[in-house]
Amino acid sequence: MSKDKLVIFDTTLRDGEQSPGASMTKEEKIRIATMLEKMRVDVIEAGFAIASPGDFEAVKAVAETVKDSRICSLSRANRKDIERAGEALKNANASRIHTFIATSPIHMKHKLRMEPDAVVERAVDAVRYARNFTDDVEFSCEDASRTEFDFMCRVIEQAIKAGATTINIPDTVGYGEPGEYGRVIGDLIRNIPNADKAIFSVHCHNDLGLAVANSLSAVMNGARQVECTINGLGERAGNCSLEEVVMAVRTRHDLFPVETTIQTEHIVPASRLVSSITGFPVQPNKAIVGANAFAHEAGIHQDGVLKHRETYEIMRAQDVGWGDNRLVLGKHSGRAAFKARLDALAISTDDADELNALFDRFKVLADKKHEVFDEDLQALVSDAQETDESGYQLESIESSSATGRKPTASITLLQDGSELSAESEGDGPVDAAFKAIESVVHSGAELKLYSVNAITKGTDSQGEVTVRLERDGVIVNGQGADTDIIVASVKAYLDAVNTLNAGLLRAHPQKDGV
Ligand code: KIV
Ligand code: ZN
Repeated sequence: MSKDKLVIFDTTLRDGEQSPGASMTKEEKIRIATMLEKMRVDVIEAGFAIASPGDFEAVKAVAETVKDSRICSLSRANRKDIERAGEALKNANASRIHTFIATSPIHMKHKLRMEPDAVVERAVDAVRYARNFTDDVEFSCEDASRTEFDFMCRVIEQAIKAGATTINIPDTVGYGEPGEYGRVIGDLIRNIPNADKAIFSVHCHNDLGLAVANSLSAVMNGARQVECTINGLGERAGNCSLEEVVMAVRTRHDLFPVETTIQTEHIVPASRLVSSITGFPVQPNKAIVGANAFAHEAGIHQDGVLKHRETYEIMRAQDVGWGDNRLVLGKHSGRAAFKARLDALAISTDDADELNALFDRFKVLADKKHEVFDEDLQALVSDAQETDESGYQLESIESSSATGRKPTASITLLQDGSELSAESEGDGPVDAAFKAIESVVHSGAELKLYSVNAITKGTDSQGEVTVRLERDGVIVNGQGADTDIIVASVKAYLDAVNTLNAGLLRAHPQKDGV
């Protein structure tokens, strides 16, 4: 039976980035986008161009770097947003403008304060205007799952007439239920006279843990694009997870009338990359990409798997990239092996100086650690990109802790070539180090989260630390990695402080209407 193509639209860099603390720099977005391209994601939503100058630059840079995936920018349904999106995308090989407006009674009345007729008019104008910049325009009815059916049919029919080529039906608040949501998608496709002129898409949030189920139900009912994110990252409880949808469709090809072109062996490396850049760990029991997803603990399972893998495994671990990423480098590895591994991880290293600097860092790490794994390389590159020359940098730290004595830390930071030193006591060595830093930087921020993850196995593993700080309602994450977790913690704290001080304020697409 021939299958329809299911378009995979990844919004890790846009909706994923809307998770508090998941802001990404331009360089980080390029790294993730390059990985998504390698995975053969069809459409990459790279950001919301009008949100801030930084967002604009990031969308532009992704559009200029990625050649094989279509690059999309979000825009509200107004001409200024659309112009900014069009400008950011103008050098893309293939571009899309994604414009949206809320259509549910509650959003139209309380958020937009607009009458339904005005909303239809605004949607039509936005789509028509966006067509001046690209012939690929997506229109979304925000809060579709709480929108009246007849009104939604009316808006969509007009949006398609105005030139929308993809129609997205978001479950913005994660309210949908698989049976009902799937029925709505099918009914829309059957009832809208020009529905055959557009691809129907779904975008589900995970507030009730149903994002993947709702998306798959929509696919069964005619949706041919799924919007999703790596690791299910996204606003609140997140979005539909790319890896789960892709592997469900592939594993149950006997049921689904669609197929994707995703190169699934890049799934685990992509998951690791997103986790290391955002500092959002992946829970061990997460489907597909969790550390335990293919671990068989129970003796009876192990016995079965050893005798015949399919007794307990419905997918092959290597098909999603487990095991393939374990090539080990050590202190005797040369530059060519190092570069080859970076290339395999979709880390671009065309700049010779940058490659040399990374190679030097690798040699230092390889001296401390016998085996350097892919995860170590990801952390190494993140660490190098986080070194903000104009911000605070760690020069040295000495910390002491002993049973029965109060832990202390003495720290020296560098800023604009000046050395700044302080010492402090604390409840533990990390607390002492953070207090010492604060007595120099005076960030006034509140520590919201501190987490340490061992990047690989073994006691010589690097610790990867995430620090989340909040000041005046702005939340940022910082990351640091080192074989010494006190040093990793200090790097993470400084990274967060530097990000806060850079004042990366951005508008939120869904908070201030059109
Ligand atoms: O959740 C949502 O409704 C969105 C839209 C902007 C598509 O993210
Ligand atoms: Zn969303």
